[in-house]
Amino acid sequence: MCGIVGYIGNKKATPILLESTKKLEYRGYDSVGMCTIGDNLSILKGAGRIDDVNNRLNFQSLEGNLGISHTRWATHGGVTDFNAHPHSDCNNTIAVVHNGIIENYSELRKDLKEKGHEFKSETDTEVITHLIEELLNNGMGFRDAVIEASKQLEGLFAFIAINNNENGKIIACKHKCPLVLGIGSNENFVASDVVSFLNHTNKVVFLDDNEIAEITKDDFQVFNILGKPVTKEISTINWSSEEAKKSGYPHFMIKEINEQKETIERAINRDIKEVKKVAKMINDAYGIFFVACGTSYHACLSAAYIFSSITKKHVNVFLASEFPNFSHFLTKNTLMFTISQSGETADVLEAVRVAKEKGVKIISLVNVMGSSLMRMSDYSLLLNAGPEICVLATKSFTSQLALLYLLAYACAGKYEEGKEKLKEVGKKVKNVLTKKNIKKIRNLAKMLKDMNDIYLIGRGLSYSTTLEGALKLKEVSYIHAEGLAGGELKHGTLALIERGTPCIAIVPNNGSKKDVLNNAMEIKSRGGYIIGIANEDDEIFDYSIIIPEVEMHPILMIIPLQLLAYYLAVERGCDPDKPRNLAKSVTVK
Ligand code: AGP
Repeated sequence: MCGIVGYIGNKKATPILLESTKKLEYRGYDSVGMCTIGDNLSILKGAGRIDDVNNRLNFQSLEGNLGISHTRWATHGGVTDFNAHPHSDCNNTIAVVHNGIIENYSELRKDLKEKGHEFKSETDTEVITHLIEELLNNGMGFRDAVIEASKQLEGLFAFIAINNNENGKIIACKHKCPLVLGIGSNENFVASDVVSFLNHTNKVVFLDDNEIAEITKDDFQVFNILGKPVTKEISTINWSSEEAKKSGYPHFMIKEINEQKETIERAINRDIKEVKKVAKMINDAYGIFFVACGTSYHACLSAAYIFSSITKKHVNVFLASEFPNFSHFLTKNTLMFTISQSGETADVLEAVRVAKEKGVKIISLVNVMGSSLMRMSDYSLLLNAGPEICVLATKSFTSQLALLYLLAYACAGKYEEGKEKLKEVGKKVKNVLTKKNIKKIRNLAKMLKDMNDIYLIGRGLSYSTTLEGALKLKEVSYIHAEGLAGGELKHGTLALIERGTPCIAIVPNNGSKKDVLNNAMEIKSRGGYIIGIANEDDEIFDYSIIIPEVEMHPILMIIPLQLLAYYLAVERGCDPDKPRNLAKSVTVK
């Protein structure tokens, strides 16, 4: 889940590569490296965050108007200087940066070693460089060598290659990992994500799998795996580069939590025709499978409750990584509803491939226009939440919930009613993000910062809120947190409760209230400390955060948990935007 960038133009490459790679740091931040072609091909790389490595190595010392760069999320080979990208060939003529995993790298490596190639790293990536070198040595041209090399690779990969003997062009290859071109004037870009070059151009070309792009400063050409030219459309991205900045907030996480005052409204303000089209596909389907990972999976789980109560429809919910085990249920009348903020999550793309083989129709909810999932789907709805930079999904989750509610109401023939109710919810976000609540949540974070375990209980729809809340706490504060359905407590987890164990009870004013409060009482009688996130206070609560009462309570109930996770991270000195061991879009299985 690395970030890769290539630049070619009239300007010095390094300042542009540095700024663009920083914008991709959410994809992985174990090591960083850069390579440019000035008088010669020169590489600087090292383990660590971009700023630290740059202070150590000074990337600006690299000359040339053509270059590539990389920020790493390690999969093959430890987090070391020599495993950092770019990787070069035996004669330091070719350099490559890569995102993904080469599954057959050890066979290729063995074969290339027998042919005399010397490897300097433990990575899978380095085989790409030596493979291209080998093919060039056999008389192939640079582009053909890259195409042929990509045919011999197995796995998920996107890579960018440059060649000291062919200064003036960049060759890039896409196969099941994101890669997009940025078309400028007298300069061009190639990168894992548009966010990296949005401040230079919003004219983009989305590459499809098994496509190879040859980029010069004034032009680009795309070829398929047979080396045949492919005509590509230039799209315009309607995101401003400003949206990809912190706008005065200390971290993207708290900025994106606050953006929910607008994003929920933006999620539901859309052409009624597209909502009705998807609602009809859902109503006509014979068997519906909601499939996703992580936070998006929690939105799918919420959908099961939402569609059951509003449309009286049964929907199946599966973790994408487990979905292929259930593919034998699929028919051409089945509908797969996938949700993914990035639209690049490998497990989701794999589940879609399995379903498409069975003729299943695919609907997707994505936040990134032109993402792989969007282009693989029969129909796709954009969340319109704007770029989500923080690794933790926050605004994308509440936008997913809002759109699922709108679709359920549309399926039930009550579109206008649903839209009005959601508008009210959007307006009430500011009544959650009040100074009083934020002060209470910051204080709670101070109280909980040294805890090892935090439990969350809820019933019905709030069960998925507990799972999402627990995920937020774990991801960014590194405190073990567990969300569970209140009814499950007595079947085991209650054994973990002792004096002072913090337990957050999600208590909306609805039919589940009495039962959740009973569960909270069971915990309290074992010494547990009860924190209520509720529509009204209760004597059972030792601490409470009171939020406005709405029918679509999961959209508001999750926000105090997002804030608690954020302030716990700040209290514990963790980086809210780039938690350890994680990355924004998980492009490997
Ligand atoms: C959530 O905070 C995490 N970043 C992660 O669980 C994420 O939701 C998951 O990787 C799915 O990502 P997607 O929505 O982009 O597919």
